[in-house]
Amino acid sequence: MRSSGYSAYVQPPSRPDRNIALELIRVTEAAAIAAARWAGRGDKNAADGAAVDAMRFVLGAVAMDGIVVIGEGEKDEAPMLYNGEHIGDGRPPLVDVAVDPIDGTTLTATGRKGALSVIALAERGTMFNPGPCVYMKKVAVGPRGRGAIDINATATENLQELSRRLKKPIQELGVVILDRPRHDELIAEVREAGARILLISDGDVAGAIATGWPNSGVDVLFGIGGTPEGVIAAAAIKGLGGEIQGVLHPRDDDERATAEAMGYDLARVLSTDDLVASEDCFFAATAVTDGDFLRGVRFYDFGATTQSLVVRSGSGTVRTVETFHRHDKLSEFTNAGF
Ligand code: FBP
Repeated sequence: MRSSGYSAYVQPPSRPDRNIALELIRVTEAAAIAAARWAGRGDKNAADGAAVDAMRFVLGAVAMDGIVVIGEGEKDEAPMLYNGEHIGDGRPPLVDVAVDPIDGTTLTATGRKGALSVIALAERGTMFNPGPCVYMKKVAVGPRGRGAIDINATATENLQELSRRLKKPIQELGVVILDRPRHDELIAEVREAGARILLISDGDVAGAIATGWPNSGVDVLFGIGGTPEGVIAAAAIKGLGGEIQGVLHPRDDDERATAEAMGYDLARVLSTDDLVASEDCFFAATAVTDGDFLRGVRFYDFGATTQSLVVRSGSGTVRTVETFHRHDKLSEFTNAGF
C-alpha cells in the first residue's frame, strides 16, 4: 500500500473551510443599498422596510439552514425576518442568525453618520436569545482591554483598570456612550473621572466595534442599549479579539416579571461567550451612511459602491470589502430592483 506521506499520529494539514461571512456581505450590501435610497428622507419605517425586503431576498440564496434568533420581532408583528423564521436555502450548515437590517434607522432617516446593516451567524444553539429583554447594560473593549473590565464595578474603576492595562492616562481614554437621559449619571461620572466621551445618538453596534478598531480613538463602550445589538456586537467583538459583558436591564416591572417567569437570570453577567458561544461565528456589516471605519453607500450614474466589514472569529480574520454594484446587471441577474 502506498503511504500517504503522513504517519497515523500526524494530522494532515487541513484546508481552510468556508467563510460564510463572505457570502453574508451580499446580504448586508443589498440591505444597505436599499436603505441608503431613504437616507435623509425622514421616513425611518420606509428605510427599515426596504432594508428588510432586500436582506430577506438575498438571504434566501445563502447555502445554509438558518433560524432567525434575533430578527424584527415576533411573527405577528413582523411578517419577514421574524424570530424563529427559517432562512437560507436549507442546506447545511445549521446555524443561528441575528439580523439588524439597519442599526441606526433614525440616523438613516435623518441622513446622519453611523448607520450599518448587520448580520451575525453562529452554529445552531450557540446564540443568546434575548426573549422579552429589550435592553442590556453593556461594557465593551477591544483586544488590549480584554480582561480589564467588570460590569459590576463602577465606570471609574473600569477606567482606572483600563488605564493601567492600556498604559495611558485616563484623560486619553476614549469612551463611547449613547446619548440618552438614562445615562446622565454615567456621563457625569466618566467626566469626573477625566476620560474623553464620544456621545453617539444611535448605533451602539458600531460603537462596540470601534473599541476594537485600530486608531478609532475609542477604548471602551459603556451604557444601556439594545439586547439584540449586544448579541450581534458580541459576534463582531469575538472576531476582533475584544470582550463584551452584559446584564439584562428590564424596562419596567412587567418586563422583569415576564423575563423571570421565562427563566432569565437578571443579575447574571453575560460574557462574550454567553452571548455567542460558538468559537466560529461570523459577522458582516455594510455602511448605510458614512461611519468611522466604513464609507456609506454612494450612488453613481449606473450603480452604487458599498464598503463592508467581514469578521470570522474562528480564524480571527477581519476584512474590509469595497464593492461596485451595477444596477443593470443586478436587476437582470436577480430580478430585483436593489
Ligand atoms: P434601531 O436603529 O434599530 O432603532 O437601533 C438604534 C439603537 O441606537 C441601537 O444601536 C441601540 O442599541 C438602541 O437603539 C438603543 O435604544 P434606544 O434608542 O431605545 O435608547
